[in-house]
Amino acid sequence: MPLNIFKLAVLVSGRGSNLQAIIDSIDQEELDAHLSIVISNTKDAMALKRAEKHGIKTIFIDPSTYLNSKEYDKALVLKLKEFSIDLICLAGYMRVLGEEVIQTFEKKIINIHPSLLPAFPGLNAQKQAINHGVKFSGCTVHFVDSGVDSGPIILQTVVPVYDSDDEKSLSKRILEQEHYLYPKAIKMIQENKIRLNGRTVTSKII
Ligand code: GRF
Repeated sequence: MPLNIFKLAVLVSGRGSNLQAIIDSIDQEELDAHLSIVISNTKDAMALKRAEKHGIKTIFIDPSTYLNSKEYDKALVLKLKEFSIDLICLAGYMRVLGEEVIQTFEKKIINIHPSLLPAFPGLNAQKQAINHGVKFSGCTVHFVDSGVDSGPIILQTVVPVYDSDDEKSLSKRILEQEHYLYPKAIKMIQENKIRLNGRTVTSKII
């Protein structure tokens, strides 16, 4: 492994299809990065199995063995430091990161969310979109700050919402786009093609 390779950590809790998209783009040499560690807060996450299948190091940090979220985050920070991570990608990670993590890795944590933020942050974004009756939704990759899905927006993809859609069909259409968008955003960061001014992200097209 080259010494200056861009090191990623992916934080997961469940299915891991976005993790898989990242793994695949590294395997296909579209993304010049090393996935150093996959960390989960749930033991049986399918994402862990996906990583193991590719020989990627995984760690389950068990929330029940920590007194509170602060202590949990301390352990998380230590682990991430141990691997000298350049970028932390949340991919279906269901815990809110505390101040210590956010501050230690300022501008180095990104997330993917299944709506066009700032619309429909938080849980069940696709259901929120259906219930609201929007005609377009999509996905957003954004920097993580201390709010919920509130950090500076890096990239977005729009998808139509059809009259016949339910939460499931819309989620599927959005997820397909997520799998393109997330590796693309990581690549732009790795290639130093984005700038952050306040809450505005500007980018060179790649
Ligand atoms: C995705 O829809 C992502 O946008 C959201 O959580 C879901 C994770 O799916 N943050 P997966 O675990 O990557 O398949």
